Amino acid sequence: MFSLQGKVAVVTGAASGLGKATALRFARAGAKVVLADIADASGVAREAGGVYVRTDVSVEEQVKDLMQAAVEEYGMLTTVVNNAGISGEMSTVDGISREAIDKALDVNFKGVLWGIKHAVPRIEDGGSIMNTASYAGLLGTPTYGVYVASKAAIIAITRTAALELAPRGIRVNCICPGTADTPMAYVEGAEIELKLSCMLQPLGRLIQAEEVAALYHFLASDDCAMITGQAIAIDGGMSAGPSLGVIGPLYEKIFNDTLKIEDFKAAE
Ligand SMILES: NC(=O)c1ccc[n+]([C@@H]2O[C@H](COP(=O)([O-])OP(=O)(O)OC[C@H]3O[C@@H](n4cnc5c(N)ncnc54)[C@H](O)[C@@H]3O)[C@@H](O)[C@H]2O)c1
Repeated sequence: MFSLQGKVAVVTGAASGLGKATALRFARAGAKVVLADIADASGVAREAGGVYVRTDVSVEEQVKDLMQAAVEEYGMLTTVVNNAGISGEMSTVDGISREAIDKALDVNFKGVLWGIKHAVPRIEDGGSIMNTASYAGLLGTPTYGVYVASKAAIIAITRTAALELAPRGIRVNCICPGTADTPMAYVEGAEIELKLSCMLQPLGRLIQAEEVAALYHFLASDDCAMITGQAIAIDGGMSAGPSLGVIGPLYEKIFNDTLKIEDFKAAE
């Protein structure tokens, strides 16, 4: 029943938020865990009974060393969660700087790419590789161009890797969270955006880190043997269409307008 006994999992971005919740949940489900982060995750590693390997995921050599460290510590690698990420600089497309797009791609996209690349020669056949994309990889999001591009690239590489690794029974999936209740969402001045997120997500609230960890738990388990190459939304229904929270007020606003079908017909 979704047991992770016998699994050895690497989780990046494990010092905080979604990665921390996932590493702790994997450990509770029986996995040995290797926690990677640029920030200190040794306390979380102690709590999980695992090990912390300081890693900057944007540096390929460090990601290679991380995967090797998991094999040396626990004798094998079965499970990888490439989750570390940054929100990136905000700007409309016409103002995107070379530095901002390079940084977002280096951490968010290449961090995942190196994670897949260096897992491949080490991970057991039948293993599971999972990547944290975002709803922003599925939908355009004004002023988040660099983030959106980096997350859409994760979805693309996930599908490609899934096809390449299927002959070995290795599944590769990514998840697309809506706005989640983690430090990343709480940048100064984000109150309006948070309120908006709750309105846009039809279920009406932020996603909890534990709920994302539960999805990763399922994807990591052998019970999930036939799901690969997917970008799975965990977004309170946001990608299903406009929520009543958005449509409702618009509907009320125009309810008393005098509207005629003729007004919508193209002029003859
Ligand atoms: N919080 C949200 O609303 C949300 C929504 C969709 C997707 N995501 C994605 O979820 C993932 C986890 O984010 P979170 O919400 O838990 O945020 P978080 O800020 O709590 O955690 C991100 C972690 O990644 C680590 N990190 C950043 N750059 C790194 C690097 N170069 N190398 C190694 N570690 C690095 C940070 O130190 C931090 O511990 C990210 O990829 C993020 O883009 C978050």
